[in-house]
Amino acid sequence: MQFYALKSTVLKVLCSRINLAPICKRNMACSRYEYVKSYELDDRILPNVWIVIRIDGKKFHKFSNAHKFEKPNDINALNLMNAAGIAVMKEFRDIVLAYGQSDEYSFVFRKDTTAYKRRASKLLTYVTSLFSSSYVMSWPQWMDRQLSYAPCFDGRIVLYPTDENLRDYLSWRQADVHVNNLYNTAFWKLVLQSGLTNQQAEERLRGTFSADKNELLFQEFGINYNSLPPMFRKGTILLRKRVVQSEGDDQEKGSQAIVPMHDDLIREQFWREHTEILSKYVPGKYVSPSVVPRLLKMQLSEESQLVKATMS
Ligand code: GTP
Ligand code: MG
Repeated sequence: MQFYALKSTVLKVLCSRINLAPICKRNMACSRYEYVKSYELDDRILPNVWIVIRIDGKKFHKFSNAHKFEKPNDINALNLMNAAGIAVMKEFRDIVLAYGQSDEYSFVFRKDTTAYKRRASKLLTYVTSLFSSSYVMSWPQWMDRQLSYAPCFDGRIVLYPTDENLRDYLSWRQADVHVNNLYNTAFWKLVLQSGLTNQQAEERLRGTFSADKNELLFQEFGINYNSLPPMFRKGTILLRKRVVQSEGDDQEKGSQAIVPMHDDLIREQFWREHTEILSKYVPGKYVSPSVVPRLLKMQLSEESQLVKATMS
């Protein structure tokens, strides 16, 4: 009897020393193994900073070849990435903007988010795994080939203290698309159309500037680089908006959706048009174009089905 009383007192003292008192109280007992919990470190992110999570496909040069993606840009594969990005934004309402290009996506959380108590590992793993599972789930809607193996994505968190840092980060990613896409467009034209080997095409482009590649595309292939689809040249920006039919429509009556855009976010104009991103966050108004992009149409029809279901 005395022994048990002593053991229980010793355990209580031990628990309080390693701050397990709340656990002991709840379970009425404290196993000798529970001290290991104290090894889990607090990974809460600093307050008042922009949280950016960027995910990137693992070995997508191999994955894109194995699944016969069109070179250098496969419109369906890119829209599949966008669909997975939209799924993440729908789940995490504190993401104010997402930006995707090639096999990567960046998600920007509002500075004052309290999602998952700002715990870094929770946020990073949820976003990365939700993106991956959504990519796989949406595959049949965008691709006419079978998925032959499971894709995976790495993820990282980067914190930016100022609005300027955040804008520079996004500008960096968008400048990256431009540099890569111009090079890849010229490279694959030389290989697929002119019959050069990969090595010959590389040699032909070595040391060239943007202007040279633009000229090559125009002179040899009749391509005006600026007339290529904006998604290929600018990547995709996802913003939460209220979608209306015309400019005069009341914003409040619009359906909320995640709208894909392919604008130039390096320019000041973009930030003037979408003031909600950096200020107090309220979804802005978006006037639907006459040809509604499929990614948006899918969301609007989902929403109208939801409304019908709740009314019936
Ligand atoms: P790690 O990210 O280091 O694992 O390697 P990675 O092979 O994924 O390279 P990286 O992320 O730097 O580049 C992405 C690669 O994905 C590109 O180099 C392309 O090979 C491929 N990719 C992405 N989008 C497309 C596309 O639309 N079409 C084709 N054909 N390939 C694409
Ligand atoms: Mg990659």
